[in-house]
Order: sequence, then C-alpha cells, then structure tokens
Amino acid sequence: MNLLLDSFEFGLHTQIHYGVGMLEKLPDVIKKYNYTKVLICTDGGIVRSGGLDRLEKILTKADITYTVFAEVQPDPTLEIVEHVKQIYLTNECEAIIGIGGGSSIDTAKGASAAVANSGNLAQFEGKNKLPNRGPDVIAIPTTAGTGSEITHATVLKDTTRQYKMGILSEHLHPKAAILDPQLLTTLPKHVVAITGMDALSHAIESYTSNQAQPITEALGLYAIRLIGKSLRPFVARRMDLEAASQMMLASTIAGAAFIWGRVAAVHALSHPLGGRYRIAHGLANSILLPVVMEYNVSTNLEKFREIAIALGENVEGLSVRDAADRAVFAVKKLVSDLEIPPTLSQINVKLSSEELDVVSQEAFDSGIALANPKDVSAADLRFILERVL
Ligand SMILES: [Fe+2]
Repeated sequence: MNLLLDSFEFGLHTQIHYGVGMLEKLPDVIKKYNYTKVLICTDGGIVRSGGLDRLEKILTKADITYTVFAEVQPDPTLEIVEHVKQIYLTNECEAIIGIGGGSSIDTAKGASAAVANSGNLAQFEGKNKLPNRGPDVIAIPTTAGTGSEITHATVLKDTTRQYKMGILSEHLHPKAAILDPQLLTTLPKHVVAITGMDALSHAIESYTSNQAQPITEALGLYAIRLIGKSLRPFVARRMDLEAASQMMLASTIAGAAFIWGRVAAVHALSHPLGGRYRIAHGLANSILLPVVMEYNVSTNLEKFREIAIALGENVEGLSVRDAADRAVFAVKKLVSDLEIPPTLSQINVKLSSEELDVVSQEAFDSGIALANPKDVSAADLRFILERVL
C-alpha cells in the first residue's frame, strides 16, 4: 500500500489475558465484569479430557454460578446456536464462556448474536449486517489455530444449503480471551498440525492480501515467524510448553492480523469444501495454501521472500524471484513434515466436474476471495481446485 495515498483502520476489542495457568484467573475476569451467572459452551472433547471438570472446580471455588452446554459439534450449525440461545435465556445467564476449539467459540459467538437479534441468523451473513450486540463472550481457546478468540467472525453451517457461512461484525469480538498454553498440551498430534496450518493460512493470507496494511503486515509476519519456529516441535511433542506458548500466541496474533487484513482464496475455497464434504477447516487450508501461494507469488515477490525468511529458509544469494518461490517450497515442506496429505484424493474426497463448478462458484460468491492479491474469477478458483485433486 502507499502510505501517502491510502488510508486504513485498525482496532482490537478483546482484552487478552495470557499466561501459563491463566485459566485459574477466570473468576477474576468474570467478577471484573459483574456477571452473576454464566453459560459454559463447550464440546465432548473438553469433557473427556477433564477440562470441563477443572473449569467447574475453578468456578465453584469462586462461588460463580454457571450452566453447562457441552454438546458443541464440529462445524456448528444454526440449529445448535438456536438451542444454545434457548439455554442461555431459560437459565437467565449474563455472559457466555466459549471453551474449546473454534467450533465452541464460534457457537458461543453465534448464540450471543442470536440472543440480541431475532430471526434466522443466515440473514446476517457477510460483513457488518448484525444490528445488535449480544451478551459478552469470554473465549478460552484449547487449540492454536482459528483465532476466533479475538476475531469479529463466526462461521456457522446452514444445513439446508450444506453451506458454511461467515457472519462478520464488530459485535462479535469476544469481550475477553483467556490464553493458557497449558490447555494445548493434551491435544492429539493431527489436531495440532492442521489447526497450526489454519493459523499459518491466516497469517500468510492477511500478510499478502490486497487489504494488508502496516499493522496487519507486522502482526502477520511475526505470526509466520513464530509458526515457522514452533509448529514442528509442538506437533512432535505437545508437552513442549515453550512451543505451545508460541503457537498459542501465533494463533491469536494471526487472528488479529486477519480481522483487518482479511483472508483470501484459501479460505474462500476451504469453506465450501468443509460445508459440502466435511473436510476439517485446517486440513482443507493445509491442502490449498501452497497452491494458492504458487498462484499469487508473482504479485509481490518481496513479500513472499519475507515469508520464506520467516519460515527459516536460507535465501542468501538467490534472486528475489527464487527467494519468493522458496516460500511456497517451505510451506510444502511443512505440510509434508507434519504428515498432512497434500491432495483431496489422498483424503478420499473426489470431486466430479460438476462439483468443481459448484464449489468454485460458491467460493467466488462468498466474496472472501475479493481480498486475494491476484484477482480471481470462479474459473480461476476452479483452476486452483484442480491442482489439489
Ligand atoms: Fe481459518
């Protein structure tokens, strides 16, 4: 961007409480905002890992009244959100605590929106269409990837259309985020790998997007550096608290970057792939990211060179073009090292020619790819998709 000619906006609206063991401080945050009763919104994984039990003990010890909904599903639907809204209202809660991966936090954000805005949430798809702010959400991520603990977005599935839609609104920023790296150390290897790649997709897409501006670039590049350094060791050994801490920060920082810097073609395509074929969001992004980077690399060689360096590539003596190509190589190598399948066929997803048309058209219609540094038509998105089959 040209700082003399262009203008930009930036703001964060979520109070971040970071630290190893920070979950213990949750009662202080709840008391600070004077909530007398909270709704905990989480999933079965947190129940089975003992996380919910621990949270309940912390709240009980601090005399905080709560209600639990622990049936969040991956790719949360509008129906689930409506159900959570009813539980919130019936129990006269005053805030929602979303604890878990992106699905739990997005459900909490969706339920908050549903409490304050009547009618089907599908009508609020897109940016800044949500009229009212709902009850506060406190987000406690237990994966390092989505950035949902800080962003203005919730991604919900409209089952009637088999469609994952994004609602983006300043009313959706959580009030507070509790970042406790210790919560990441019990995650399975494959979850850590694909959620980490989701964070990397946020960082790279926002850093290279046509909406990038100095602050999002600084955040995005720093997140890429953290991920380049820490994702491999964290996947290899989840008890590595230093790697966990860096991944937790990278995920939130990349989230802050993409609120304003936006995401682009990778996310435009991964949403319909997730909605129609139930491919986990981070997995779809891992498969798409190197190919989208290849498509975009010529738009800004200097930036892709910086990505290569941030990911630990030695670019000394290389031309800018060769150094930029190293960024694509570095991400391909990362996907391979993390043992993530690089194509859709390797995860047993096969798309017919008609399906390729539908997915690429849906990706185009979402408008997400408008932030892509290189213009993309539905045909271009189909071209990208054909390269990951
Ligand atoms: Fe994402």
